[in-house]
Amino acid sequence: MTLEAETKAVVAQFDYTNEDVNKAVKEFIRQMGEGLEKEGTSLSQIPTYVTGVPKGTEKGLYMAVDLGGTNFRVCSINLNGDTTFNLTFSKVAIPRELMVAKSAKELFAFLAKQIELFLKEHHGDQFEKHVRRRMTVTSPEGFKDEEVFRLGFTFSFPVQQIGINKGKLIRWTKGFDIPDAVGKDVCALLQQEIDILHLPVKVAALVNDTVGTLMARSYTSPGKTGTVLGAIFGTGTNGAYVEKLANIKKPVTGEFDKSTGLMVVNTEWGSFDNQLNVLPNTKWDIELDKETPNPGIQMYEKRVSGMFLGEIVRLVIVDLLKKPEVSLFKDENSSTNDWKSTTSIAPNSGVFTQWGLDTSVMSVAAADTTPELVALRQALEEQLHIYSPSLDDAQTFKAIAAAVGRRAARLSAVAIAAIVLQSGTLTDPAYDGEEIDIGVDGSLVEHYPYFRDMIYEALGQIEGIGAEGAKRIRIGIAKDGSGVGAALIALVAADMEKRTSGADYIGELRDTAKNSPSTPADEVAANDA
Ligand code: BGC
Repeated sequence: MTLEAETKAVVAQFDYTNEDVNKAVKEFIRQMGEGLEKEGTSLSQIPTYVTGVPKGTEKGLYMAVDLGGTNFRVCSINLNGDTTFNLTFSKVAIPRELMVAKSAKELFAFLAKQIELFLKEHHGDQFEKHVRRRMTVTSPEGFKDEEVFRLGFTFSFPVQQIGINKGKLIRWTKGFDIPDAVGKDVCALLQQEIDILHLPVKVAALVNDTVGTLMARSYTSPGKTGTVLGAIFGTGTNGAYVEKLANIKKPVTGEFDKSTGLMVVNTEWGSFDNQLNVLPNTKWDIELDKETPNPGIQMYEKRVSGMFLGEIVRLVIVDLLKKPEVSLFKDENSSTNDWKSTTSIAPNSGVFTQWGLDTSVMSVAAADTTPELVALRQALEEQLHIYSPSLDDAQTFKAIAAAVGRRAARLSAVAIAAIVLQSGTLTDPAYDGEEIDIGVDGSLVEHYPYFRDMIYEALGQIEGIGAEGAKRIRIGIAKDGSGVGAALIALVAADMEKRTSGADYIGELRDTAKNSPSTPADEVAANDA
């Protein structure tokens, strides 16, 4: 087959037709219902103990940390109470070896250390005051409640929540794999390490990034009806939405405010249809899944999110390179290359290693609409060490990347549509003429050209939504959503803490401090202060 014919054949395998999309929406709604009824389903539908969305008037200074992908972020957020906020943050890449560390302690000790560095750099006064006070810990004023930062912990992995600041890790995703953390309360793991460093910080809320995004979007863009869905399309993918309490049939134990009749549910849609009833499954999807630490799990995520799209494209390219009759990246001589050169692929090219093709090259391919595809060809050289690719090569790469990207966007529309339909907002008279607000964040929606346009295009084809419905759906970016959202939930948690009798956190802190007296190093720090 010629390169052109082969490219067409590959592209066709990534077609996800309107009919496929509609069938998948129905299946998504069915699996959502199943997840609300019982445990152990592919869509986990985790109750989050968050029972309302913010109004934009919330106020206060909170901390948030965010673990969930490539980076760990520590931030402090001042909510100004007028839909605005000020955010200070630091970000560090998570060392690859910690993602697969032998024990959870290694990872969580690293996180606590980053919190300490952040406090010293950005809130030095409060930090030092606290260190000094610890010296007089036996006195009644040893700890002052207002000096303890309430921290929202955005932990973007599937967690069985058992309270606003308690939750057990169900499984790792996105390349993390530390078996001894599974089943443990991740807030307690973090609090232990914070306490070892004697930091004035209480982990007050456990937050999935999608829940944070939903909260942040509601705070910054309050409408008459509130935000319906918070979603991430980044390294991983997931969504959290507002569900009627009455629809959550499985038991929700523990304390929460029942007055709103609502609860935010974390769908964990990355695992939608692990059983592959409706998801597409090309040979490259199968190959990709086999190579991951969690085969058979997160099957939707593996077709949609940034961590995996580049890898799918890479596997297709590797396959084409193996076919002698297909002339991809191998011109016969300089006359068949429009740059009048010959193409070569360096042995260290990312094309030959797992995860070696970053999704950002796909973004360059989608953005480059020039006849000669110069930008894309440069990116192939710089990022993938494929030298002098011909125009034909670049066109093939662009077509394959576009097919994989388009399928991901259409699959994303499936989840969004299912949740909009489930919410009933399109037909609810309370929403008459109102926009249905959806907050999104993540590298794909932010940086992959036309991703949102492709989602809208598919939404218009879905029964029950159509072109008119699609126009009413407003998909807006909630930048830094997880940090701000975590702060908002920490605020709710702090209020709950005040209201709940017996929640004597300061007393608990005092006890911890008494049981682990200051080390000489602490005292030096205190004396230096
Ligand atoms: C995790 C989710 C998270 C999503 C986006 C998925 O892999 O399971 O909890 O919300 O990634 O970060």
